[in-house]
Parts: sequence; structure tokens; C-alpha cells
Amino acid sequence: MSFRIQPAAPARPNRCQLFGPGSRPAIFEKMAGSAADVINLDLEDSVAPTDKDSARANVIKAIGEVDWGNKTLSVRINGLDTPYWYRDVVDLLEQASERLDQIMIPKVGCAGDIYAVDALVTAVERAKGRTKPIKFEVIIESAAGIAHVEEIAAASPRLEAMSLGAADFAASMGMATTGIGGTQENYYMIREGQKHWSDPWHWAQAAIVAACRTHGVLPVDGPFGDFSDDEGFRAQALRSATLGMVGKWAIHPKQVALANAVFTPTEEAVTEAREILAAMEEAKAKGEGATVYKGRLVDIASIKQAEVIVRQSEMIAAN
Ligand code: COA
Ligand code: MG
Repeated sequence: MSFRIQPAAPARPNRCQLFGPGSRPAIFEKMAGSAADVINLDLEDSVAPTDKDSARANVIKAIGEVDWGNKTLSVRINGLDTPYWYRDVVDLLEQASERLDQIMIPKVGCAGDIYAVDALVTAVERAKGRTKPIKFEVIIESAAGIAHVEEIAAASPRLEAMSLGAADFAASMGMATTGIGGTQENYYMIREGQKHWSDPWHWAQAAIVAACRTHGVLPVDGPFGDFSDDEGFRAQALRSATLGMVGKWAIHPKQVALANAVFTPTEEAVTEAREILAAMEEAKAKGEGATVYKGRLVDIASIKQAEVIVRQSEMIAAN
């Protein structure tokens, strides 16, 4: 390992981020009552241009009035290529209560995008005397975003989480897809006459996880559009969890339980991790750096793998 120690990501649960359009205030209470760890009130692409002003006002009102419990409360602002984003930031920071935890910046393409928002947020926070610094989360959903993913992950101490936005990403990359995330019909290999589907999101996910882990940011899988396909959602979420992501978006309330189930370590997984740690303690006592657990090699790296699972489960339990 290099002498720089990998920073820890924020120790808060982020198993599911539930989205809802800012133009649909009737669902805000339902969102607050859900089992999602993070709530994302949207001002961006689920809100029509004619509704941008009223959605912003709805969201500002709801931040102060709705009981959001202990959830992380986030608002997705409009992209920096639109005429809306500065007003989103200024009005949120000037008018919303300090219950607001973070803003989500979509379609980021370079570290400068974060710098620009950071400068504006910092100025308004100072002007208004806000005492709780606003955190950021970003969406990687363009070719530029994935090309510059590491500098983006390092761009601001405010940055807590980074999501992959599969639909805009696919469009920006020129991918021949229409579905929002998940298996793509045409992405397969042939072996002995049989089709084997592969994962077109794998590379982008792994790049995001690496950038996030380097800089202490939470890597999150974005939306899965077909909310009638529970098994497809689950398979996508399991792949994301296996790669190191900590959670997934829900674009319909029925996806919240699916995400929570996948991103909460199972009792069996936690028990096995604890057993590996115990086996390694025993080995250490005998002066050995490696031992056998259930017929397989475990060594000092296994301690770190097991600790990921135990820490995750303890952090979730503590919340
Ligand atoms: N959060 C909380 N509750 C929601 C909800 C959400 N995002 N979306 C729907 N509900 C509620 C409905 O009000 C309804 O409640 P009821 O049983 O009390 O009447 C229930 O869940 C079932 O809703 P359903 O009829 O299946 O869905 P819908 O047609 O009302 O809405 C969507 C479907 C996809 C339009 C809606 O879920 C939505 O807007 N999702 C978020 C989209 C978004 O924010 N996209 C941006 C990120 S990609
Ligand atoms: Mg998008």
C-alpha cells in the first residue's frame, strides 16, 4: 500500500435513495415515511421546464415542514448546462431550512463543475450565516464524467456520494440501448451455441468505485427503470454490491425494500465474516499469517474483506 491511507467513506447508511419529482408534493410525506436511507427531491429531469419554479418552491417548503426523521435529505438541482441551476442553489441555500443535508449535482463532467457549485454554495452559506455546511453528491452520467471520474471524486471536501446514471450515460456514450440500466438484450457472447449475457455497466461501475474508494466517497448504483421487474432489479443490485457499491436508487417505492435487502449484509454473511476474523485471531496467536477456514485459504487480506462486511452491518445497526 502506498503511504497514503485510503480515507473512510462517510459512515452513514446509503442503501437506497428514493427519488420523487419536486412537482409532485403529494408524495413527499410518503417518501418521508419510506424505509429509504436517502431522500432525493428532484428539480431536474422529472420536472417539466414549465414547473421548475413551482417545484423549487414546493421543495423548499417541504424541507422545513415534513418530518424527514433521520434520513439523509438531498435535492437534485438542474445541470450546469441549464439556466435553472444557479437559482436552485441560491434559493435552496437562502430559503430552505438547515434540515437540508446535501444537494445532488447531475451530469458532472469535470472537477470544475463541482468547484463552480462549491463557490456559489460557500458564498451563500456565509452570507446567510448557515451553520451546517451542505454536502454534495454527484451523478456520473456522461462520457466526460466517466473520463474525469477521479478528479471529480477529489473535487471537494463536501462530496459524500457518487452515483452512476445509466440512461444519460448510455445516451452520452452513444450506446445502442433504450432501457434504464440492467441487462441489455444485445450485450451477449456465444458459447457452444448458447447466449450468455454480459454487463455493459460493469466498467463504468468499477471505475466509479475505484475513484470513490480512493477519495473516501460513497459509490452508489443509479436507477433501474423497469419497476415491474423485481428480479432484474435484484440481479443488478447484487452485481453492484459485489463490485463495492453501497446502495441503489429507487424510482418507485416498491424498489426500496429490494435495495435494502441487497445492501444490508445478511446474518449468514456477518457470521461468516466474524468466524474468519476469529480464525485469523487464532492464527495470529500461533504466529501464523494464514490459515484454513472451511477448506479455503484465509490470510491477512481476508481480515480486511471480513471487516468491510462487519463494519457495514454495525454501521447500519447503529442507525
Ligand atoms: N415516492 C413515494 N411514493 C410514491 C412514489 C415515490 N417516488 N411514486 C409513487 N408513489 C406512491 C403513489 O402515490 C401511490 O401511493 P398510494 O398507494 O397512496 O396511492 C403508490 O406509491 C403507488 O404508485 P403507482 O401508482 O404505482 O405509481 P405512480 O404512477 O403514481 O408513479 C412514477 C410512478 C414512476 C411516475 C413515480 O414513482 C415517480 O415519479 N418516480 C420518481 C421519478 C423520478 O424522480 N425520477 C428522477 C430520477 S431517475
Ligand atoms: Mg440523468
